[in-house]
Amino acid sequence: MTGIDKDRIPAHIAIIMDGNGRWAKQHALGRVAGHKKGVDAVRDTVTACREIGVRYLTLYAFSSENWNRPNREVSALMRLLERFLQLEFKTLQKNNIRLAAIGDLKSLPERVLKTLNEVIGLTSGNSAMTLILALSYGGRDEILDAVKRIAGDSAAGKLDAASITKKNISDYLYTEGIPDPDLLIRTSGEYRISNFLLWQTAYTEFYFTDVLWPDFRKKDLLQAIADYQKRERRFGLTSDQLVGDLP
Ligand code: FPP
Repeated sequence: MTGIDKDRIPAHIAIIMDGNGRWAKQHALGRVAGHKKGVDAVRDTVTACREIGVRYLTLYAFSSENWNRPNREVSALMRLLERFLQLEFKTLQKNNIRLAAIGDLKSLPERVLKTLNEVIGLTSGNSAMTLILALSYGGRDEILDAVKRIAGDSAAGKLDAASITKKNISDYLYTEGIPDPDLLIRTSGEYRISNFLLWQTAYTEFYFTDVLWPDFRKKDLLQAIADYQKRERRFGLTSDQLVGDLP
């Protein structure tokens, strides 16, 4: 861990895992082969984050827009996800990692949802790290859903519309109770947020790398963290106003 300050590890890292298709093309393979290799990178990254002391890791595994991909690819991704949950369950337990999920989970295939809920339930007592899978996730959908529930609760007299706070809004999002990401990594040289954690990334530090997701390994994660540690997070204040790290 040379070059990394162990006392300033980002508590929450979010990752847009991009480039599986391009990796496959570069290796003259089909897109699904790229996703399979992507699972190796997921495993490696979860292990590395746990070792380093990251408390929350959110992975953008399937966006609400990804449903529009060819049926074969969507089915393959769902199968990979189910297998990942079945195979990694023991490792999560061994490493004291809790699984959580955000997104429109009810639109997942029944078998995937069942396995997902089982692993979430069985790991719910783990406390060293939380692995959050964003599945059928869209940031605008999440905000829309929150607005609808806030409006409903307000109409029912449970919430006073005039005194709604930013904290209230956070509490209506899928990420309720999870701190906002400190660092967001996007692989494959794309510079977009792609509808990911729109509300939660207001003050997140962004890190972009050309590495394609299937090639992403611990050294790349450490490089992202080292870069993050060089930055001054000002949260809208001036440098002079900063005393220590703000939340
Ligand atoms: C983006 O690459 C990646 C995805 C849409 C899926 C990510 C899924 C995995 C890494 C595997 C399954 C996940 C878990 C948690 C087991 P892309 O296909 O858009 O790549 P491209 O832009 O190069 O075509």
